[in-house]
Amino acid sequence: MEIYFAPLQGFTDFVFRNSHAKYFKGVNKYFTPFLRVENGEIRKKDIKDLSLSTVPNLVPQIMANSCVDVEILVQCVKNHGFRECDLNFGCPFPQQSKHFYGAGIWDKPEKVSEVLSALKNFPEISFSLKMRLGNTDVFQTLDLIEVINSADLKFVTIHPRLGKQMYSGEIDFKTFETLYEKLSFPIVYNGDLKTSADIETLIKKYPKLKGVMIGRGLLSNPFLAEGSPFDKKRFMEFHNSLIDGYSEIYGGAEFMVLDKMKTFWTYSDKDKKVLKKIQKSKSLSEYIASVAMAVQN
Ligand SMILES: Cc1cc2nc3c(=O)[nH]c(=O)nc-3n(C[C@H](O)[C@H](O)[C@H](O)COP(=O)(O)O)c2cc1C
Repeated sequence: MEIYFAPLQGFTDFVFRNSHAKYFKGVNKYFTPFLRVENGEIRKKDIKDLSLSTVPNLVPQIMANSCVDVEILVQCVKNHGFRECDLNFGCPFPQQSKHFYGAGIWDKPEKVSEVLSALKNFPEISFSLKMRLGNTDVFQTLDLIEVINSADLKFVTIHPRLGKQMYSGEIDFKTFETLYEKLSFPIVYNGDLKTSADIETLIKKYPKLKGVMIGRGLLSNPFLAEGSPFDKKRFMEFHNSLIDGYSEIYGGAEFMVLDKMKTFWTYSDKDKKVLKKIQKSKSLSEYIASVAMAVQN
């Protein structure tokens, strides 16, 4: 059973991934946030994120809705020496989905076929798919099971929600089970796993799973994939390495580093008062003191 760190745009960039991999074990694969084509090109910032990654088990993720996108994005991934690539059919943000990207691709079944067929032009690359149950209705995926099964995929990660649910609301285990049984690829489950007990319960329920992918749970508790208890010293070393990494990126602009560091507490389950103190800190030293309090035990 494998554990994957989910891609989280705005969080799991190269600084975060490199630091997490240095201080914690247990993650079998890290995924980059999606790369996409904008005005015929891939954003320089996203290419930089690929080149500065030192994590050996890194899978670049792409978001495409045409064979032209696939060509540009997979060539880039290949040129950077990667042999694995994940395809995003799950992003629910309207800026993407209204243009039939991410979860929005399920609104145009012909684009699903076009993109999956285009992967066949790159037999040297192992592709995986990260999908939701559809954008507005589960029949958007259930009706395309044969189309998905005709693609060359190494595994499929399923986040069992619709695009319109964004990241909350009930997980639809019934539809997940249908896809788990009917898709002909190894399945990875993704969604709302926060504790080791959550992971254990899930893999007992679905013994054929290839693995689980965890996003917010790992941001909140970076020890989760190891299954080990929280260790303040190691956490602070990891946290300092994030501060160092972002200080380098922002050329020492303290307020930018501070803003960035505060975002990492978005999904924390720590006491609300302590979290408020972190968010209100006005300097890095005040912030670090608040964090030290938050992780006292
Ligand atoms: C802020 C944010 C950014 C995300 N960025 C991406 C992304 O770039 N690619 C992707 O496939 N999923 C992205 N996701 C979805 C996560 O990878 C994951 O599927 C989702 O958070 C559910 O898993 P979790 O409950 O373990 O967090 C994002 C989610 C959030 C909250």
